[in-house]
Amino acid sequence: CGIVGYVGREPAAPVLIESLKRLEYRGYDSAGITVLNKSLETYKTVGKIADLESILPEEIVANVGIGHTRWATHGKPETRNAHPHMSSSISVVHNGIIENYLQLKEKLIDLGYVFESDTDTEVIAHMLNYKMYNGKKKIDLLTAIRETTRELEGSFAIAALCSDEKGCLVFARKNSPLVLGIGDDGYYAASDVTAFLKYTKKVIYVDDHEIGAVRPDCIEIFDPKGNLVSKETHTIEWDLEAAEKAGYDHFMLKEIHEQPTAIQKTFAGKLMELEGTIKMDELYLTPEQIKHLRRATIIACGTSWNAGILGKYLFEKLAGIHTDIETASEFRYGNPVLCGEELTIAITQSGETADTLAAVRSSQSYGCRTVAITNVVGSTITRESSSVVYTRAGPEIGVAATKTFTAQLITLYMLAIYLGRVRGVLSAEEAKNLIVNIKRLPGQIQKILNRKDKIKECAEQFADKRDYFFIGRYLNFPIALEGALKLKEISYIHAEGYAAGELKHGPLALLTDETPVVAIATKGHTYDKILSNIKEVKARDATVIAVANEDDTEIEKYVDEVLRIPQSHEMTAPILTSVVLQLLAYYTALANDCSIDKPRNLAKSVTVE
Ligand code: G6P
Repeated sequence: CGIVGYVGREPAAPVLIESLKRLEYRGYDSAGITVLNKSLETYKTVGKIADLESILPEEIVANVGIGHTRWATHGKPETRNAHPHMSSSISVVHNGIIENYLQLKEKLIDLGYVFESDTDTEVIAHMLNYKMYNGKKKIDLLTAIRETTRELEGSFAIAALCSDEKGCLVFARKNSPLVLGIGDDGYYAASDVTAFLKYTKKVIYVDDHEIGAVRPDCIEIFDPKGNLVSKETHTIEWDLEAAEKAGYDHFMLKEIHEQPTAIQKTFAGKLMELEGTIKMDELYLTPEQIKHLRRATIIACGTSWNAGILGKYLFEKLAGIHTDIETASEFRYGNPVLCGEELTIAITQSGETADTLAAVRSSQSYGCRTVAITNVVGSTITRESSSVVYTRAGPEIGVAATKTFTAQLITLYMLAIYLGRVRGVLSAEEAKNLIVNIKRLPGQIQKILNRKDKIKECAEQFADKRDYFFIGRYLNFPIALEGALKLKEISYIHAEGYAAGELKHGPLALLTDETPVVAIATKGHTYDKILSNIKEVKARDATVIAVANEDDTEIEKYVDEVLRIPQSHEMTAPILTSVVLQLLAYYTALANDCSIDKPRNLAKSVTVE
């Protein structure tokens, strides 16, 4: 989850440990360091940095080292999977995901390399080793990292050491942050400045596709063509607390902004646009099993349950599978009628929610196969399910789920498209169209984030209201539920999500000019219907805030405020709307001076019934 490095005059180990502690806020499950003196010395363990500290010898003589906090993405949180990863005289730490690691691993195994971990990172260590010592001619570590990174697909921030090149640390970056620090007593490298802010505020930002070397007396950075580049030195003005949040006021806001990347990482390597299908090997279901699926049951709690409702609609529309969605706490004490041929899909970002785990065990007792959708590698649900599909949103610190929710939605789209293609319900053309629209989402979300001030203004205008309604139809119904849940979780304002058609069966009685109604009115086959619902609401004097498409000029005639999403496909618009509603909740809570990252009475992971 974070890398650090040091080359200087001070003993490296204490600097690395201190830097790793500064990265603890990012969430991690294991940690390790390698220091370089006469040879490489590596120490790593599962658990806290304090645990790592406790296994270090009293005195380590070395002025060069690299370190890592790992948040598992490939392979469980076990010591052998913790970084640094070694290949005899080479040691590597890496943040990111190597998408083509399986192909690379096979080649390296053929060349005789033995893998000790399940990680994607270990291929980098062996590739460096191969290039340096077994290739046609002997090359240095810097050349080896240049050649190696050319073959890597995915994202990476890498730092590496070689015992044959004392005093030298090499680095490379692509789609994963990497920053260098210039201190009085040495040079630092890290995934974010927090790691070394205690030592220096002078930094150099490494750009994508750049590689370089840190030596005791200089830093060299090269562009992709191999030209030495001269980089500007910046001075950081943040204090430590602001730096942990990358300058954002709250983790929640930071995580909302991480969604373009979180989504991109979740679908990376899975969208087969040309073939009009999805890569889903991790399901371990044969085409025959998929074709004969009669029913699916989605089980989840809280935000994950809201994602599950959308999942039900997607499975039914795209894959033609009858799907039930159940709240885990109800399912476990209900009387499910299952014959064992159904597929159970458990959605849980933490992988630890007690009710969801119990519901999964209960469905397994009927003989059902379980697929877990989770964000945490090695969590309990992954050990208890037949197969696991990971969201790759990165650790989420804010209690109110944001990036893990949209990553769950993306995963459900991919799963539904995959099942639909295997079952012959969805044509390759339809799948391609959806895939193209999924690929557009990171850019579209970025557009919403760039225009967040409008959402902030709207939130501030209504921040004193005590009751809110959120309405939507079809795919927007679960998004209305999630919008209401976000608002109540962090702003303590009473909010209810409703299927828009249900308003007239009760809630209309509550509407006054003091109850804002957020209506999701994006273009799609229920657009006219939601317009009618908006008119019903306006007739009761309530204020209506619509979420609508960029080019919808009609909506303005009927509502008080419009929050826009970019032009998008009806099927993918709900993900964009989710981001708008997260920001609306965030700015409403901010205007009410609430404890946004740690709302009262709530916990991130609920491991009790
Ligand atoms: C807690 C969290 C929610 C989350 C729910 C389910 O209540 O505060 O944000 O949606 O648990 O968590 P899970 O980890 O199973 O998705």
